[in-house]
Amino acid sequence: MTSRSRITPFALVGTVALTLSTLAAAPVVNAAPPPTGSPLAAQAPADTAAKPPHPHQKRPGEPLIVAHRGASGYRPEHTIAAYELAAAMGADYIEPDLVLTKDGMLVDRHEPEIGGTTNVADHPEFADRKTTKNLDGTDVTGWFTEDFTLAELKSLRAVERLPKQRQHNTIYDGLYDVPTFEEVLTLREELSKKHGRTIGIIPEIKHSTYFHEKGLNPEQAFLEAVRKHGLNSKKAPLWLQSFEITNLRAVRDMGYRANSTFLAWTGDGQWDGPYDLLSKGDARKYSDWMKPAGLKEIATFADGIGPEKFFVIPKKADGTLDAPTSLVADAHAAGLKVVPWTFRNENSFMAKDFQTSDDATQYGRAIDEMVTYLRTGIDGLFTDNPDTGVIARQHFLAEKGK
Ligand code: G3P
Ligand code: CA
Repeated sequence: MTSRSRITPFALVGTVALTLSTLAAAPVVNAAPPPTGSPLAAQAPADTAAKPPHPHQKRPGEPLIVAHRGASGYRPEHTIAAYELAAAMGADYIEPDLVLTKDGMLVDRHEPEIGGTTNVADHPEFADRKTTKNLDGTDVTGWFTEDFTLAELKSLRAVERLPKQRQHNTIYDGLYDVPTFEEVLTLREELSKKHGRTIGIIPEIKHSTYFHEKGLNPEQAFLEAVRKHGLNSKKAPLWLQSFEITNLRAVRDMGYRANSTFLAWTGDGQWDGPYDLLSKGDARKYSDWMKPAGLKEIATFADGIGPEKFFVIPKKADGTLDAPTSLVADAHAAGLKVVPWTFRNENSFMAKDFQTSDDATQYGRAIDEMVTYLRTGIDGLFTDNPDTGVIARQHFLAEKGK
């Protein structure tokens, strides 16, 4: 996978023919038994004390279900609606990816370029902001958050990133604004109260080096927000993520005390490693970091890894799954949790073993796929479909006799 495909992560979808007739709205499902306990980190009790256990809540040691950009299989990603639905579906953690505005505010977007996830192109007053920038080694054309104040950004509305693959989500285009990190932190507290269980948050600082080059400091803004919300402790339901290393080290030096996780994608291209180090001459790719020596080093600045799922069970040349690698055991031996990404219901995102047709938009056997990965001993998984994740976890636990 190239650097460009990371910036436009759904580019590969087009390799499978698209028809739209098979899309179906996915129901919110109720999970069975009512387990109690904590997510990866120990619980922060303040916001759920004396509440009855939630039917979805996991028990200690059970794998986490992380709502990737919210319940983004069913709502435009990184919107309040996507997070609300994720919590209702039983997600243990919600994930905001974070970028910065011109005035230094952290907002929830997957990348600085916002042409793919907002209606900015429909705003003539911003037409002259369209430009081309180099983002971690790749030229990208569009509109960039660091060229907008928060007030300007708030005049935009979110749209579905994958309108062809997820046409059903386009009915929500234009309804929701771009949330700030602060708003999502507050929402997490509100959702925990509403659902009677601690819902965690696993934010990812995107393109740290890129923003520092522009005079902005995402780690400082992140730490201020975390402190304001009382989450700066090892026991807080908070994990910071990054595909870079310099910032994960730096934020600890700045006083960050909650957990961190280092992300890695597969690929062997020029930029398929942490950009902060690659751009300074350290040639190690993510695949190098996922080996035992790399994992041991990661354990000096992080508490877990978030590998692309094909690091855990790779695909063979024919597109079917190979045997699991030793990554989970190696990471656990280094003291690291393992929470891979990204599990999505549609055929195009899974190995051939689980595809139900050549239709990229049609659902594959997503529960089977998740259970297969859960059997490797992972500590959780990121999914666009948290309800599917909750069901898969139930099946996995039932299989183990729990
Ligand atoms: O953070 C886990 C996963 O979200 C990493 O990939 O590109 O979706 O942020 P991405
Ligand atoms: Ca992410």
